Parts: sequence; structure tokens; C-alpha cells
Amino acid sequence: MLDKIDQLSSQAFDELNGVTSQSELEAWRIRYLGRKSELVQTLRSLSTLSIEERRVVGARANQVKNSLEKGAEEKLLSLEQSLSQLTSPEKIDITLPGKKIPLGRLHPTSQILEEICSIFNNMGFQVAEGPEAEWEYYNFEALNMPEGHPARDMFATIWMDSNADTGKGSMLLRTHTSPVQIRVMEDTKPPIRIIAPGRVYRYEATDATHEWMFHQVEGLAVDKNITLADLKGTLFEFARRLFGMDRKFRFRCDYFPFVEPGGELAIDCIVCKGAGCRVCGNSGWLEVLGCGMVHPDVLRYVDIDPEVYSGFAFGMGVERFPMLRYGIEDIRLFYSNDLRFLGQF
Ligand code: DAH
Repeated sequence: MLDKIDQLSSQAFDELNGVTSQSELEAWRIRYLGRKSELVQTLRSLSTLSIEERRVVGARANQVKNSLEKGAEEKLLSLEQSLSQLTSPEKIDITLPGKKIPLGRLHPTSQILEEICSIFNNMGFQVAEGPEAEWEYYNFEALNMPEGHPARDMFATIWMDSNADTGKGSMLLRTHTSPVQIRVMEDTKPPIRIIAPGRVYRYEATDATHEWMFHQVEGLAVDKNITLADLKGTLFEFARRLFGMDRKFRFRCDYFPFVEPGGELAIDCIVCKGAGCRVCGNSGWLEVLGCGMVHPDVLRYVDIDPEVYSGFAFGMGVERFPMLRYGIEDIRLFYSNDLRFLGQF
């Protein structure tokens, strides 16, 4: 009988060692300490033994029962402890979702540039690029704005020091993307169909609608028999693809020295749909771009015969489009590197 109790005790302790959860512990307790367990049955059957045996067996069985109960208590304590280690606030909260890995994204200006370029690519225009530090000749003179021309005043210019005498005047930060027109026409014979996206610079105090650096997209098409109707058709198609089919357009005269006639395209205000609001200055219209037929004198500058060839050109500011689309009220947000702003697009 004593052997049996000892064997039971060592078996129970072996199993207790392997217990790893509270439910396993409960099953163990029922198996070894429950009413129907061998140990408790043995204690119950003590009355059938002789007094002598009863004392010895009873004492041993009680001893084993007590040590098993103590073992179970300790096990419970250690299980609770390891659980609370896992879940205590300064450790890991196992119910929290994993940490998000932040993903980079395109700047809103890059996104709109890609959108504009892809629209014109699909219409057969190739992307051309030119330098941001530009010669006076390309930025002004060859665009029909010789020295002293009053239209130069439209472009508050950031001039740069340069000693080189290349016959192309001083250096400056280009005030618009139009000089790319000249560079392309110098290098390429018609037919030409390009757009030129890029940064431009103005010597201007910044405020909610002015930045000293912003982006433009220039367009140029030169070939035989290009007419104002081609310009109008191209621009309307572009505006429909960018702003949607239900926009109204206004196409009217404007002046730029490098085009004749010059024009301006406007769409009905995205915000008030033409009724008049703060965004459109109560006019109901938003100016989208300047354009026109390439001036014959500009073609002469690049040795293209205006009697044989004609062309159209256009240029637009880019930041305005996402500003209108997303209701951004301050252009300075674009280039102040605030991730809370940039992360939204
Ligand atoms: N370069 C002009 C500006 O920055 C915009 C422009 C107007 C470009 C008419 C053109 C054009 O190509 O034909 O204000």
C-alpha cells in the first residue's frame, strides 16, 4: 500500500512539472486530488485497515496529499506570474496590432506632374527638359523679349553672377519653362511635339498664393499647317481629361511676347461651379494656362522658316491644380517638408 502511494506521488509530481496552463493544472488536480482520485479513495478506505496499518498508511497518504496540494498552489502561482510578465504594461501588450512600417509616397507635385505628362504623352507629346540655371538669351531674348523689353517686368527675376561671355547674356534662374521651347527648336527640326515640366523661380515675397520656387509645364508643337484650332482642340482635350467631362471652358485673348495671337484658358470654378466665390475672386472662372501661336520672330531666332512652319505653345503653373482639387489654401505647405501635410496625398 505504501509503495503504491509513493509511486502515485512521484507520478503526480512528474506530470505536474509538465503542466503549462491553468486548464492543464485543473485536469491534473481532478486526476490526483479529486474525489475519485486514487489518493482520496485510499484515504476513504482507511477504515478497512487494521489500526496499525491505518496509522502508517493514513499518515503517508495525508502527507502526499498535502505536498501535492502545495505543489499545485505553487504551480498556479508560477503560471500566473509568467502570464502577467507577458501582459504587464511595461512588457508587451499581446492584444496590440503590429507596428505599421511607414511607406514613402510621391510628393503631391510629383503626382500631378505625372498625371499631366501622361495625358500629353497619350496625345503624342514627348517630355523634354532644360536647365534651371539659364541664360538670359533663352529666358528672354529668343522669346522675343530683348533687353529693355517692358514684358520682362512680368517676370521678377533672380539673377546670378556670371563672368563667362558666351554672347547669351547673364545667367539667371529661369522664370518660366518657355526657354525649353527655344532649346528644343535649336536642336530639332519640325515636326515637334513636346512638353517640358520643371521648376521655375521668381524673385517674390512668399505668401499663401506665391512661392519663389514653383513648377510649370510648357507645351510646344511645330509643324506645317498648325492652326489655332489645333491649339484649342489640344487644350480642351487636356482640360477634359484632367478636370472631367462636365467642365465649361473659356478661351480668350491674352498677351505674351512670344506668341501671336496669345490666349488664356479658364475653366468654370471647381468650387462654386461658376456662381462666384472666394477661390475664383467672384468671377466664376479659374485661369488654367497661357498659350498662343508661336510668334514668327521666335521661329526666326531658331532658323525655322515661319513661311513654311507654324506652331502653338502653352504654359501652366502646376501647384494650383492640387490646391484646387484638395482645397489646399496655402502654397507654402508644398515645400515646407511637413510630413503631416505630405502624408495625406
Ligand atoms: N511662360 C508664361 C508664364 O510663365 C506662360 C506661357 C504663356 C507659356 C503663353 C506659353 C505661352 O508657352 O504660349 O507666365
